[in-house]
Amino acid sequence: MKAHILVIHGPNLNLLGQRETSVYGTASLKEINALIKTEAEKYGLEVSTFQSNYEGALVEAIQEAKGKYDFIIINPAAYTHTSVALRDAILAVDIPTIEIHLSNIYKRENFRHKSYISGVAIGQISGFGVQSYLLAVKAVAEIIKQKR
Ligand code: DQA
Repeated sequence: MKAHILVIHGPNLNLLGQRETSVYGTASLKEINALIKTEAEKYGLEVSTFQSNYEGALVEAIQEAKGKYDFIIINPAAYTHTSVALRDAILAVDIPTIEIHLSNIYKRENFRHKSYISGVAIGQISGFGVQSYLLAVKAVAEIIKQKR
């Protein structure tokens, strides 16, 4: 059976392509989701995507992923730096999770250096623009390959 990945995008990522393009690039979320799907197909993986600006909706998406998804790739956006709730949701469902960021959060303001998510993720990919998402898909494929 195909492994199924849930890709979760946090707040303001619906504005990608229009928002701070010098930091986040010019690709829209729709374009990024299409690139993620194409990358996943290369490895025979299935992908669903979800975006919300609301912390509770993101928590619910993680909760509902239990039993349906094998991996989560999440860009928690600003909630990275604030949300114990997202961290607890990831712990609760116990689905292997990769945290990603388009920008290198360690090159930016101090408040972005702290991630509540990295301590419960398999790992974090930060600073490669759209490639951060695609590298995370590749990481999932490698993890599955190593298990076989
Ligand atoms: C971000 C980095 C966060 O600090 C910021 O709040 C975002 C996007 C990134 O992808 O680089 O909204 O997660």
